[in-house]
Amino acid sequence: MNIILIGFMGSGKTTVGRMVAEKLCMDFIDTDQLIEKKCNKTIFDIFEEKGENFFREKERYLIKKTLKKKINCVISTGGGMPCYKDNMKQLKSIGKIVYLKIDFDILKKRISARNRPLFQDIEKAEQLFNKRKTCYENADEVINSGGDLENTISQIIKLADLP
Ligand code: S3P
Repeated sequence: MNIILIGFMGSGKTTVGRMVAEKLCMDFIDTDQLIEKKCNKTIFDIFEEKGENFFREKERYLIKKTLKKKINCVISTGGGMPCYKDNMKQLKSIGKIVYLKIDFDILKKRISARNRPLFQDIEKAEQLFNKRKTCYENADEVINSGGDLENTISQIIKLADLP
């Protein structure tokens, strides 16, 4: 079974995902890193040079061509991936979707805006956060990611036993 982590920028998907994968002896995949590698450009440069829509279609292509073939992986997704077109439905066919839920006030203290084109203006980022909430809530499981890191990880590990 694959575990797919979704949530807003700064919710801890990459950090948590890497640690969960290590503990469960699963492979770890970060969709942003894969896209950067395939395009040989940073996320920031992709947005700057090709625009957001190009990036969204790259994410969709990645789901279809790469993620669908994966087994036994922990997959950390870019914050916008599940909210574009029917990506959530596609992701659900690949694994268990776990939403790392966090309050905006906590997140904004933790996040680095570096290489995050959609977190350059904090007010706009908060609007996006509010707009995406209902999409994220369609996950199979919701985990509080605003507290202790070890606690978040152990909650996900418990879920891994579920069918
Ligand atoms: C985005 C989140 C980023 C990255 C891109 C767009 C978004 O990933 O995919 O900058 O739309 O929320 P992280 O959630 O890993 O920061």
